[in-house]
Amino acid sequence: MRVALLGFGGVGRALARLLLAKRDDAPFLVTAILTRSHGWWVDASGIDLAGALSRSELPSRGASPAIGDLPCDVVVEITTLDARTAQPALGHVRAALRARKHVVTANKGPIARAYRELRGLAAANGRLLRFEATLSDCLPVFTLRRAALPLAEIRALRGIVSSTTNHILSAAARGVSFSDALAEAQRLGIAEADPSNDLEGHDAAAKATILANVLMDADIRMEDVRRAPIDEAAARDATLAARDGARVRPIVEIRRAAGAVSASTGPRRLDPLDPLYAVDGWSMALELDTDLAGKVVVQLHDPHVEQVAYAVLTDLLEIAGY
Ligand SMILES: NC(=O)c1ccc[n+]([C@@H]2O[C@H](COP(=O)([O-])OP(=O)(O)OC[C@H]3O[C@@H](n4cnc5c(N)ncnc54)[C@H](OP(=O)(O)O)[C@@H]3O)[C@@H](O)[C@H]2O)c1
Repeated sequence: MRVALLGFGGVGRALARLLLAKRDDAPFLVTAILTRSHGWWVDASGIDLAGALSRSELPSRGASPAIGDLPCDVVVEITTLDARTAQPALGHVRAALRARKHVVTANKGPIARAYRELRGLAAANGRLLRFEATLSDCLPVFTLRRAALPLAEIRALRGIVSSTTNHILSAAARGVSFSDALAEAQRLGIAEADPSNDLEGHDAAAKATILANVLMDADIRMEDVRRAPIDEAAARDATLAARDGARVRPIVEIRRAAGAVSASTGPRRLDPLDPLYAVDGWSMALELDTDLAGKVVVQLHDPHVEQVAYAVLTDLLEIAGY
């Protein structure tokens, strides 16, 4: 299966390393790599990935070929996130599906902003759209739903879907200040240089929108999600809660009541019997409340960019029929 990578930053490079490491088992040939300002490389017979990883500038400059003209079966959309407009990723995903290419993306923007449209476009063109990495790195959520929870209705969802804010509240429980915990997340490259996207709940709202629309067949917008910030006051509450043996965690909650789906994100106090209580530090988790399977909880411990790349690979493998 021929693969085009749109974006070759942290995730793209981690995916290239993974494809090299698994080249004997993973049936993929990377035939195109496009970046915004570091050039592009298209070779229908397959790009030397080790060579691509060793250079900061790709060999071709100037305008890259149109997405529909790339010699590939699947487009991996891993360009920079713009949560407000979802561009340029949304345009890339539309162009790829219209050109009858499968799409895998780690970019939340298009799925949070236009899931219904893109699902329809994929179906109309007989192609697959996969986005496991958009939620919480390789926490298995959408694959879990398809593989392990067929026919089950998901009535409610609760989870921790942001490493940065969970780290801040976990550190506060140990007495670390809000600013020191945030600085550590920035130093490790986990929080953005401008962390307001995480702290004000925009990132969690995008993820809650994806969860509601994909898993509960809702049709909500990011702006419909009620947001409470993870701020110094929440960190102080986390420090005080820890003295009573409780934890304050950044929780997204989605539920259906009287036929309508509502979603919220913000700090919540949890007692030790809550399945999300022990999900500490950079870890993330999701609880699915279903009619047929009861409550199912999945947790991902301490993920890094390699786990994001692995989620992309699992989507590619599913498309390839593995
Ligand atoms: N990093 C994570 O842990 C993580 C986790 C889950 C999801 N994601 C998502 O995965 C995506 C990639 O993340 P990342 O960390 O790899 O980002 P990154 O390191 O900033 O890399 C982004 C890449 O996209 C390229 N790009 C931007 N605009 C483009 C365009 N119009 N056409 C072609 N290429 C373009 C950039 O090229 P230039 O370098 O030339 O600008 C760069 O190669 C993002 O949407 C992010 O939200 C990331």
